[in-house]
Amino acid sequence: MEIIAIAAISLDGLITRHAQEGTGFASPEDGQFFRQALQTFDCSLMGRRTYKVSRERILANLSPERLRIVRTHHPEVFAADALQERLEFTSAPLSEILDDLRARGKRRCAVLGGTSIYSECLQNNWMDELWVTLEPLGFGSGKRLLEGELSVRFSLKSLEHLSPDTLLLKYKLLRDAVR
Ligand SMILES: NC(=O)c1ccc[n+]([C@@H]2O[C@H](COP(=O)([O-])OP(=O)(O)OC[C@H]3O[C@@H](n4cnc5c(N)ncnc54)[C@H](OP(=O)(O)O)[C@@H]3O)[C@@H](O)[C@H]2O)c1
Repeated sequence: MEIIAIAAISLDGLITRHAQEGTGFASPEDGQFFRQALQTFDCSLMGRRTYKVSRERILANLSPERLRIVRTHHPEVFAADALQERLEFTSAPLSEILDDLRARGKRRCAVLGGTSIYSECLQNNWMDELWVTLEPLGFGSGKRLLEGELSVRFSLKSLEHLSPDTLLLKYKLLRDAVR
């Protein structure tokens, strides 16, 4: 199963503007790219905070063609939102979540953040590609794209202007260069 992480970041590598939850800072062009890109995945994985911010939109767009998995230590809290094969909540270790997706025949997984899940995937060499939309913004404070002690290297696969100011950079993880 191919595992691709997708994030919108500021020029200083932050995925939130200060303490504001969500990706309200991202351009409409990124929003359009993101929605279209998601159509090409048969599953996605996100942390509880990321889910909470987009809950309404996710619930309005549930589809049997795209299983969404949300990571939380308290899946029982979300029992009313859960729908088998469309929207599931789990406290299982990430390795088990990914094995389970593979066992269900999933072929392409979008990792939608936030920081902890991106970092854990990289820490364990579980990411094939990282797609970042680079917005022409600087925040100074906010959540970082990555955390912990990582030493990963990517090669640039493609570069696309989503608008005159916004770049979409698709990177491939160079596995031999990890750690
Ligand atoms: N710019 C972007 O592209 C982008 C992308 C993604 C997210 N974001 C933003 O970033 C913010 C959230 O980022 P984040 O890094 O704080 O949060 P996150 O990854 O979305 O969620 C963190 C939560 O995931 C759960 N979790 C983490 N590790 C776990 C584990 N080992 N087992 C079970 N559950 C686990 C915990 O939920 P519980 O507390 O429920 O246990 C934890 O509080 C949001 O504002 C979101 O909108 C931006």
